Amino acid sequence: MDPTVHQHITLNGGADLQGFRQALRILTWSNIPPEQISWSEQESAEQFGGRQPLTFGMAGKPIILQRMAAELISNVVCHSLPGKYAMLYRLVWRMQHDEPRLLSATHDPLVMGLNQMASEVRRDVERMHAGLCFREINDAEIGERFIAWFEPEHFILEPAAKHFIERFRSLDWTILTPKGSLCWDRKELAIGPPVGRSASLEVVASEISWRTCHESTFNPAHVHIPTLRRYASQQATRKSWRNRSDAACGLIPAAWSRVDGVIEQETAMPAKRNLKESSAAAAEEPKSLAALNRVIEASPPMVEGSHKAVLGEGPMHPAIAFVGEQPGDQEDIEGRPFVGPAGKLLNRAMEEAGIDRKKTYVTNAVKHFKFVQRGKRRLHQTPTAGEVKQYRWWLEKELGFVEPKLVVALGATAVHALAGKALPIGKNRGPAKFGGFDGYITVHPSFLLRLPDEDARQREYKALVADLKRIDRLSHEASRA
Ligand code: URA
Repeated sequence: MDPTVHQHITLNGGADLQGFRQALRILTWSNIPPEQISWSEQESAEQFGGRQPLTFGMAGKPIILQRMAAELISNVVCHSLPGKYAMLYRLVWRMQHDEPRLLSATHDPLVMGLNQMASEVRRDVERMHAGLCFREINDAEIGERFIAWFEPEHFILEPAAKHFIERFRSLDWTILTPKGSLCWDRKELAIGPPVGRSASLEVVASEISWRTCHESTFNPAHVHIPTLRRYASQQATRKSWRNRSDAACGLIPAAWSRVDGVIEQETAMPAKRNLKESSAAAAEEPKSLAALNRVIEASPPMVEGSHKAVLGEGPMHPAIAFVGEQPGDQEDIEGRPFVGPAGKLLNRAMEEAGIDRKKTYVTNAVKHFKFVQRGKRRLHQTPTAGEVKQYRWWLEKELGFVEPKLVVALGATAVHALAGKALPIGKNRGPAKFGGFDGYITVHPSFLLRLPDEDARQREYKALVADLKRIDRLSHEASRA
């Protein structure tokens, strides 16, 4: 590429994911380095009526992006920082030129900055989901419609809208914001222009004043439709509604697939680490187990439930490391893994198999207890595949420091975390490979506790002890090798 050539790219204002993807294909295909590109955004009518194609005279080639990079891009384009496209292009450029694992370098200033921006966008979406206040308009001309006003910090309308469509699919609603508006007619979503605060309040406020509405803790995530109807009042300011721009219920059907057109590939990269408020802790890549544990303890949970992390315990360089799913109620209270009913059963089976638990390392795939509160009880919830993936970065680092001879996956979640994919236990029970580690797959002890009849429990207990004896043998062989 001629180093004197300078390319100027103008994208639409707001979150122009489509435009950025198009630019990305062309720029990477033409091999134009980031220093030779300047980016700007235009505030134009096109933003809400369809975009003009970039005028390069070429379409560019689809590029292959890791799924994590594609997700990061679709989040960061929603940020309100003007330099976001330049930063994203630098990231893609570096990943395509010798740094394919750049996203796992969470201490890299560019990666840290982009992760921080993505988490600010996600927080803004959560704030909108939790804080939106709908009011019912019942107008002879427009019919029944729920209207809400919100002031997002970032350009989050499209990612936030899916949540409202899923909950209020069978209602007509409009969300007005200074960053654009959303209009749902039970079939299609349209994205319209920004609406100023005063115009919006004129539409929204009538019998219930805006303040009353806003101050109430109306939460669309938790409300159901009859409550919504009861809550809302019946009349609206027709004049303001008539004055709405038709473009406000305009023409762009939202595309939920945030990454279409870019071929994605999931690779064996370690999962993204959650940097929500812990980016300070992550400024330095942990160099020891103690440093890693400090980061884990300082980080917010990535599951709904306890905020207290339960760390792994045991000696370094053990013959065996056991990996469970996540701490349970008792583990969360005591702050130690496998001390509740499943832990007691595991201890008994280990003893019978001749394994001294104190010489093993015991940890979990997910470091926080995920639960829902039901009265006084905290009910265990199985972590989702996405949550397991988020915690995987820590688990890989942890085992890297501990360096066991053999890693034992107890149950499906541990297998998923260690193998990077779901594998049925029945078919895969026995020796395995987890990355660079010799491994072994067996059942989780709580599986035995859930079995309804005593015979089955006895049978499965014997099978678990047999597995542990074999694990013990294999770990000795590996230690000698
Ligand atoms: N179940 C697990 O997977 N881990 C624990 O620490 C306790 C119960």
